[in-house]
This record gives sequence, structure tokens and C-alpha cells, in this order.
Amino acid sequence: MTYKQEIIDFYNGRTNYDNYTTINRAIALFDYAIPSPGQWILDVATGTGNVAIKAAQKVGANGNVIGIDIATELLKIAQQKIQAENLSNIELIEVDAEAYQPQPDKFDCIYCSYAIVLLPNIPKILENWYRFLKPSGFIAFTCSSENSYLALSIVEACAKHGITLPNLHEPLGTPERIQHLLTQAKFDQIEIHPRQLGTYLSLEKAQSKWNGQFWLHIDNPLRELNPQKISQIKASYDEEIAALETEQGVWYEELIYYVVARKP
Ligand SMILES: C[S@@+](CC[C@H](N)C(=O)[O-])C[C@H]1O[C@@H](n2cnc3c(N)ncnc32)[C@H](O)[C@@H]1O
Repeated sequence: MTYKQEIIDFYNGRTNYDNYTTINRAIALFDYAIPSPGQWILDVATGTGNVAIKAAQKVGANGNVIGIDIATELLKIAQQKIQAENLSNIELIEVDAEAYQPQPDKFDCIYCSYAIVLLPNIPKILENWYRFLKPSGFIAFTCSSENSYLALSIVEACAKHGITLPNLHEPLGTPERIQHLLTQAKFDQIEIHPRQLGTYLSLEKAQSKWNGQFWLHIDNPLRELNPQKISQIKASYDEEIAALETEQGVWYEELIYYVVARKP
């Protein structure tokens, strides 16, 4: 199965995606980057449309929002929500964000909530977004620290078995790397707002967070391994997590960077 098909199947299976947390962490982007009435907005990987709907309310009837995604089932939910809100200024397009090519200088704002790391070529996508933006337009996206979701423990457990697991959160996993990639793509006025959404978990809960195999990365070497090897890696992960246990439990980091940058 191709990586993109894996993504489509995974998110099509998440028709219960919306809840208090997923909605609020997405629309928190508007705490840092607010569109103005009448503007053109692109919501990349819109999913169930949370950011697109909020943006459509903010730009009003004279503004336009385009939401793109590859998961048909989530787009159906987005469409139902748009109808329920009676919004006529949002268009949803089922397209791979990496293939989407609107005319240059079309958008005032491009949002991407909880999805940029799923796009394998981040420098290329930033280059595209720069081209799609009008001068003075902005991008606003979220990414996570490299150790969010216990990612480094997962990578370490794999390394113990000779498997090099690429960390999804590595390329945008520190403020320095975010700054570097955005500067390379010619953006300026870069703002990085960290928000810690982490929590302590019981040992059992922290261990249950990873099954030894699941990893949405284009170069996921775990896809090729037999079940015996996977259970050995899972056992090492459980050991790694047990070693992190404190009196309060296991710290489950979820450090989100809310990033805004402008096209000069
Ligand atoms: C964690 S969800 C975030 C959804 C939404 N942005 C939000 O925050 O509520 C990730 C979304 O990225 C979408 N996605 C992943 N890769 C994509 C791609 N190459 N093109 C378009 N959408 C993609 C998935 O289908 C899914 O809807």
C-alpha cells in the first residue's frame, strides 16, 4: 500500500475525529493569525473543516475559503457541518495537498492544522505556499516538538533492534528548525508560539500509546517487519517507557508550536 493510501485509510476510519480537544487545538490558530473580512483563505488538510468553517465566519460573505484534503469521509463530515452552519463561502476540494496548484498570489492566508508533518516534502510545500500567497499574506500552521507523543522513545526502541525509524516530528521539531525552514522558503516575520498540552499518564496508559507498528511516515521500515520482530520492538518500547515513570506517572509531552510567517 502506498503512503498516501495509508493516510487516506487511516483518516477515513476516523469519522469520530471531532471532539472538544481536536476542535479547540485547531481553532487556536486564530489566536495568532486572524483573517480579515473579504479575504481568500486556503485550509490545507481541512479534515472535518474546523479551521475552514471558523475562517469562513471571519471572512464573511465577501470572503472565500477553500478547504482541501484527501480523506473523503472527513470531507463529507465537513460538508455536513458547512450546510448546518448555512455557509456559502467555502469550497471543499478532494486533492493531495502536494499536488494542489492554484494560481500564484491567490490567497491572503493559508492555514494547516495538525497536518504539515504528514506531507513528506516540507521544503517543497513551503515553497508552494509562498507562491500561492499574495504579498503580505501569511501562513499559520501547527507542528509538534520532536519528543511529543513519546516519539523519541519509539525511535530508541526501534534503534535497539537495528531499525532506523525516521521521526515524523523531527524536521519541524524545534524552534530553530522551524525558523530555518521558513527562512529558507523566504518567509519573514516568523512567530513561534509554544503551547504545552502534555500530561502525566499512568504507566499502562503510556505503554498503550504505541502498538509497536503504527507510524504514519513515508519511509516507515516497520511495514516490512514480521510480527515477531514487531513484538520485540514493542517490548523494548514498554521498557523505555517504564524507565520514564515517576511518582506522578509518565510525562506524555504534547508541545505544540503555533507558527505564523509572512510573505514579504
Ligand atoms: C490530524 S488531521 C487534521 C485535520 C484538520 N486540519 C484539523 O486540525 O481539524 C490530518 C489531516 O491531514 C489530511 N492529510 C494528510 N495528508 C494529506 C495530503 N497529502 N493532502 C491533503 N490532506 C492530507 C488527512 O486526511 C487528515 O484530514
